[in-house]
Formats: sequence, C-alpha cells, structure tokens
Amino acid sequence: MSVARARRSDLPVHPVLNERFSPRAFSDRAITDAELELVLEAARWAPSSMNEQPWRFLVTRKGGDGHAELLAALNPSNQVWADKAPVLILNLVHRTLSRNGQENYHARHDLGLATAQLTAQATALGMGLHILGGFNAEMVRTAFEIPDTYDLVSVIALGFPGDPESLPEHLQQRELQHSPRRPLSELVHYGRFNG
Ligand SMILES: Cc1cc2nc3c(=O)[nH]c(=O)nc-3n(C[C@H](O)[C@H](O)[C@H](O)COP(=O)(O)O)c2cc1C
Repeated sequence: MSVARARRSDLPVHPVLNERFSPRAFSDRAITDAELELVLEAARWAPSSMNEQPWRFLVTRKGGDGHAELLAALNPSNQVWADKAPVLILNLVHRTLSRNGQENYHARHDLGLATAQLTAQATALGMGLHILGGFNAEMVRTAFEIPDTYDLVSVIALGFPGDPESLPEHLQQRELQHSPRRPLSELVHYGRFNG
C-alpha cells in the first residue's frame, strides 16, 4: 500500500516541502551508497555562520557498525518504529569556532539548516525521514566515545516510506494525519513585534 496523503499547504509551496512529513512506517527497500551520499552531500552545501560548517553526521546502517548502539539509545516510544528504518544518523555539532575557540552561538541553527537540506534532498528522492530528539545523548556519547567538544543534538531515521498497517495499531492513524501548523498570522510580524 502506498501512502496517499493530501498536500498540506493551500499555497503553492514547492512540492518537496508540501509533501514531506515525518513517517514512522518504513518499507524494506534499502538505501544505496549513492543515495546516501547524495542526501549527505545536500547537507554539506548548507549555509552556516562564518562558514564554520559545525554539523557532523554519524551514519549507521541496520545490521552494520554502530546501529544497535544508536537504536538502543532511542526512547522506547521511538525504538518501536525506528528499528525498521535502514539508516539511523546521529546529528552532532562542534560546539566552538575553529578560528578562536569561542562558543559557536549558531551551531545548532546551522545543523538545522543542514538537516533541512538533507530532508529536502531525501524527499525529492522519494525517501522519508523522521528526526528524533527523544534519545539518551549520554548513552550515545559513551558508546561512541564522542569528545565533549561536540553536542549530540538529534537522530534521523531514514528510509523509504512504508505501509502504515505495518505499525503498531496506536501509530497507524497518526501516520495518515498531518501534524497541524500554527497560522502564519501567529508566526509572522510585519514592522513591529506584537508579542
Ligand atoms: C528536533 C526534532 C525532534 C523530534 N523528536 C521526535 C521524537 O523524539 N519522536 C517523534 O516521534 N517525533 C519527533 N519529531 C518529529 C516532530 O514531532 C514532527 O516533525 C512534527 O510533529 C511535525 O510533523 P511533520 O514532520 O510530519 O510535519 C522531532 C522533530 C524534530 C525537528
């Protein structure tokens, strides 16, 4: 069964943005090395403050090095579906600026830009991905011996969207519904900040 979902915005935003959602159901289709490299390359070209490029990605493949350790650190509510994704990626940032060792205030901002580009590229290739903040960062830091100079920010479950019926029952309906959005009128201020 393919996942048929309505477009989300009534405005003509780019299809890659309008069709993206965070799936929990993944198919058995594997991701090739070339596909994986392409989505990571898309992230590489993101803009960043002072071109620091603070993002780092620790990529694990189901059945390969590091995957079991990363999966084990996810919150149980995420593990129940993320274990089907063929790729799990840990997103990190280098916390300080290479030019002067000062804190990079924009590091997480820039990781967000890089993961947004990764997301757009993956969507354009027909993949689905789900970003996860629900994981035990200290467990991951210990398991992978990650130095203190890096912040462990999120995990990406990456694959091709699958059949919602493959999910535990309580997640099946959620897979078919769009997460709501605040109206633009709440998000955007013109000329003055209204609180
Ligand atoms: C930084 C970040 C952390 C997230 N953490 C989780 C998570 O731990 N578990 C989960 O199911 N979804 C998680 N999500 C997915 C969001 O809930 C989801 O993006 C949001 O509800 C909007 O839905 P959509 O992506 O389908 O449009 C996370 C998303 C982001 C960007």
